[in-house]
Amino acid sequence: MRTDSFKGKDFLTLLDWSREEFETILDVAFDLKRRRAMGELHTHLLPGKTLFMIFYNQSLRTRNSFEAGMTQLGGHAHYLDPSKIYTPALPGHEIAYTTERVSDVARVLSRMGDAIAIRCYGDPVEWRYGGAHEILQNFAYWADIPVLNMEDDKYHPFQALADVMTVKEKFWKFRGVKFVMSWAYSPSVHKPRAVPQSAIIAATLVGMDVVLAHPKGMELDDEVLDACRKNAEASGGSFTVTNDFEDALKGAHVVYPKAWAPKVLFQPPVGEYNKEKAQEIFDANKDWICNPDRMALADKDAIYMHCLPADRGFEVTDDVIDGPQSVVFDEAENRLHVQKAVMSLVMR
Ligand code: CP
Repeated sequence: MRTDSFKGKDFLTLLDWSREEFETILDVAFDLKRRRAMGELHTHLLPGKTLFMIFYNQSLRTRNSFEAGMTQLGGHAHYLDPSKIYTPALPGHEIAYTTERVSDVARVLSRMGDAIAIRCYGDPVEWRYGGAHEILQNFAYWADIPVLNMEDDKYHPFQALADVMTVKEKFWKFRGVKFVMSWAYSPSVHKPRAVPQSAIIAATLVGMDVVLAHPKGMELDDEVLDACRKNAEASGGSFTVTNDFEDALKGAHVVYPKAWAPKVLFQPPVGEYNKEKAQEIFDANKDWICNPDRMALADKDAIYMHCLPADRGFEVTDDVIDGPQSVVFDEAENRLHVQKAVMSLVMR
């Protein structure tokens, strides 16, 4: 594969990237991780380059891993708060002297820097499912520099890369690894679906045996489920969906329980924007918590994963997330390495 094929590419969803490209990114991420562990500097990779980061939502891991990553690569990450600039907006959502059309923002930033990274989901697009992804696609259409998805309402590709890197570190293989992505209860119904959707796309792409478990009413995007079926067929892995949490966990090597919003929470035509109905579905499933009894159903060497932040006492008990099977901090650290890998490949 020509490595210069990465140069200038956007990174909005893993659906746009081949398995070969995905594995190259992982190789580079492992290499950068090893080099850093040996105390090697790699500031020569992106010297003088600027990453613009636009955060419509809060963040701990994503912001800090991109900022630290750019510093370690010799460049600079520039944080942009949409409420402190003219908020980038699409036609139909513009307010005079408050917003600025995405096409203009993208072309201005393209004249000044080397990539634009964006986080947007939920309230900024009034829970219109796909509304945030449309903003990112529009940025990518207009920008002359790579556009990176730091999580939108459909995908969180860097989280999925870090998740898969963590699985590889723990098991050194993908084939035969049972990866259970499960819904879990949270007191907040306002949870994007980007993490589970990207996780199952990535896990099926690399050939794991993927089980998606959730209560009825928590179905994910049909387009994502179709992609997972196709991935599994091509990679030799498998993909199944169940409404039985405990059955899914039996023999699992990876246990990844995480809350996400039901379809009814989103605006029409996808849902009904009915917060009360969403709350009812959540409240009927409070027992979807990852505790030691649930972990005991999994393989004895199973790992517990979560993208963080976790709702402790609801999605997971303290003894599991702080216990020996938990790899959540490795997973968080791997965000740094996979993002550095992608940035060094696409921003050259
Ligand atoms: N996992 C993740 O994206 O964390 P932040 O919301 O803190 O960025």
